Amino acid sequence: MRSHSLRIIPSAREISAYRGDSLILPVAEGRAPLRGIANVPDGALRGAMSRAIQQAAFRGKLSERFLLHLSGHLGVKHLLLTGLGKPSEVNLDRARKVAAEALRQLRDLKARRIAIDCHEKSWPGLPAESLAQAITEGALLGLYRFDIYKGKSDRPTVDEIESLTLLCGDRDAIRALKAGIGRGEVLARATNLARDLVNEPANVLTPTALANRARAAARQHGPAVEVLDRRAMQRLGMGALLGVAQGSANPPRLIILRHRGRRGRAAPALGLVGKGVTFDAGGISIKQAEGMETMKGDMAGAAAVIAAMTGIATLRVPLDVVAVIPSVENLPGATAQRPGDIVRAMDGTTIEVVNTDAEGRLILADAFCYARRLGAQRLVDVATLTGGVVVALGSVRTGLFANDQALARQVEAAGEASGEKLWQLPLDDEYEELIKSDYADLKNTGGGKKAPAIGAARFLKHFVGETSWVHLDINGTSLQEKETGYLPKGATGVMARTLINLAMNLASARRR
Ligand code: BES
Ligand code: ZN
Ligand code: ZN
Repeated sequence: MRSHSLRIIPSAREISAYRGDSLILPVAEGRAPLRGIANVPDGALRGAMSRAIQQAAFRGKLSERFLLHLSGHLGVKHLLLTGLGKPSEVNLDRARKVAAEALRQLRDLKARRIAIDCHEKSWPGLPAESLAQAITEGALLGLYRFDIYKGKSDRPTVDEIESLTLLCGDRDAIRALKAGIGRGEVLARATNLARDLVNEPANVLTPTALANRARAAARQHGPAVEVLDRRAMQRLGMGALLGVAQGSANPPRLIILRHRGRRGRAAPALGLVGKGVTFDAGGISIKQAEGMETMKGDMAGAAAVIAAMTGIATLRVPLDVVAVIPSVENLPGATAQRPGDIVRAMDGTTIEVVNTDAEGRLILADAFCYARRLGAQRLVDVATLTGGVVVALGSVRTGLFANDQALARQVEAAGEASGEKLWQLPLDDEYEELIKSDYADLKNTGGGKKAPAIGAARFLKHFVGETSWVHLDINGTSLQEKETGYLPKGATGVMARTLINLAMNLASARRR
């Protein structure tokens, strides 16, 4: 990840006063493309540009782009017109997407200093602060690459963009721009941290390494980090988690992060739990070989939660938040648990392990018990839990399950603000049949192809008790097969921004 060096600069200057390599001009459909540079003194240039644009039939449709090479005019080498689509449809997620796509194109052209027109009139209906935040997010998210293992490590980073200047032509808007940029940087860097963790291979990112990375990420701004080892978990009676862990030589970890955003000692208003399976071979119920390499990403929930906690701490969100991350490797070693084994979770519930590949719910069960012991008043978990959610929602929306509709709506609103879409699936009591065991209180799978994502959520529900809870199944959304908009190929870092926005919204609701 190298886009961290990109500087994002707020500026009150006019577009024609900018000197650099490239200028991005957003154009909504039906708007005159060159209005933004109306005060360019060179009339001949304007005429030539207008003709070129007409010839290219540039309309301003979403993601449509038109590149003009300039020589000695306007203070830049290229002008990139980027379509925003219909003015009534321009929104913050389009700003993220358009900024990401334009910047990637200009990076390919080796541009280093770039400006983007942020005049209010160019972005219909978007206030300066949230526009600056969205462009910042789009830039940092869109330029993300995971290339640390490619080529020689000392390869010069010749094609990195140095600076992105947001030109708004208005002195009074600078403060708003600065605030938006600052917040956007925190949200995007958190997301890119989550992406780095997910993309990292499982030989490097073991449970121990994940704990160390959480500590390293927290070093600057917090949160406080505590890590429990196998012995400590044995003392706590976390038999469900330990059963999964016993098939691997890499020992398990329980990673606890705490952000104290309020004075006094109240119970944490929010508890986050993230599935941290650093590799899921399935255990004795082993997976097929094809595609198994993607199972290094079975800790994407943990990554989102660790990243969100660093963002929440950096932004000093005035809310007490605790995070619990159960981390294990699910391998079929000689000491692995078998199908039919019965384990006992921390709260005493016995579980028949019918399929060792349904391991996520087992480790989450003990993590929920622990988060409740820490006093979390609400719980939100994030997990690459089931193939079933991909059948239902593909890689577009994250599956949401809840025992509390108010919390479900709050998580949805935070997702909407982040450009991360969610869709609620049901949890009716009738689905309980799927996980009734003949030998124990519960079994960890059942029903075959029938509603597997719901069966998994019903299983989790047993361990949250009366606590308000939302479960997010990100199995479809945590990885993308190809680059689109501000999402790279590979890890997306999904839900890191949603969780940060949720914490901010809960904090401001409290103060009202
Ligand atoms: N980590 C997987 C989820 C998964 C499934 C990711 C398929 C990618 C593709 C999870 O631990 C798992 O294996 N789930 C199983 C559960 C089944 C055995 C009941 C699934 O959904 O297939
Ligand atoms: Zn599995
Ligand atoms: Zn898994």
